Amino acid sequence: MKTTIIGGGGRVGSNAAFALQCAGIVSEIQILDANTDLAEGEALDLLHGASVFGGQKIYAGGYARAVDSDVFIITAGLRRKPDESRLDLINRNVSLFAQILQSIQTAGHKQDAIIFVVSNPVDILTHLAASFLDLPWQQVIGLGTMLDTARFRSLIAEAHGLAATQVKALILGEHGDSMVPIWSSATIGGLPLSGLKKCSPALRNKVFERTKGSGAEVIRRKGGAGWAVGATIAEVVHAIALDKGELLPVSSVQQGCYGLRHVSLSVPTVLGRQGVLEHREISLTPKETQDLKRSAQALQKTMAQVAGKV
Ligand code: 2OP
Repeated sequence: MKTTIIGGGGRVGSNAAFALQCAGIVSEIQILDANTDLAEGEALDLLHGASVFGGQKIYAGGYARAVDSDVFIITAGLRRKPDESRLDLINRNVSLFAQILQSIQTAGHKQDAIIFVVSNPVDILTHLAASFLDLPWQQVIGLGTMLDTARFRSLIAEAHGLAATQVKALILGEHGDSMVPIWSSATIGGLPLSGLKKCSPALRNKVFERTKGSGAEVIRRKGGAGWAVGATIAEVVHAIALDKGELLPVSSVQQGCYGLRHVSLSVPTVLGRQGVLEHREISLTPKETQDLKRSAQALQKTMAQVAGKV
């Protein structure tokens, strides 16, 4: 399977390329970036490792060479400042994003191509891409709260001194300030988290607040996320490549799950080679449901600001 990473010269895009290379599941990785020197440099650095990893084809190229991509991963965009919300980024990133969508459309793409948006504000840009491109909404997804969910699970595990791979807990809604922690179905090693004495309301609040602030914390400390976001991008790409039918909290245009429509955000989503196979409504507490609706409203408010800009 071929992927093209638009913005692949940047930290997020190049870390995603490395995660895909290490896993050896996709066969071809094209690095596309406005900074062509950087794209060539990242592609060459990755190619040097091809003899160690899966021997994928890795190269730098443009939109004309991307037309046969199975998955377009869009990571290009300006990074926010630590005190800036992802939604604040909207005015700076929409015009760049519109140019990228136009370039994909003009150069052409396969009818079964998947558009995978990572750039922020990811839910807004996912919605814009779905409305602009001539592809079914099921083939346009966003990283959504995948990274938040990964952080949430890892920080829960750290707080309990247990293996992060054993924690199953979801963040849903906006990849942003209104994200929603789903404690009601969280488990460690198959055991309900609520049953663990250590999992007090104070600890839950501390873990969730740190999860929510993780993006800004990483920006403050190292300038921006890279490794974990690359890993979660690869997780989504592999669910597509292997047609896994995996249930993941990716962002897509809502069709009525939890009563939500006219918004893109993360709900439990069954993902395969065709993109979104199904939105799956898991049971939530009344507060979780209310918070999810609030998250949708926050996104719809921002969407109103950019309607027609793409
Ligand atoms: C983050 O949360 C890049 O939005 C991403 O770090």
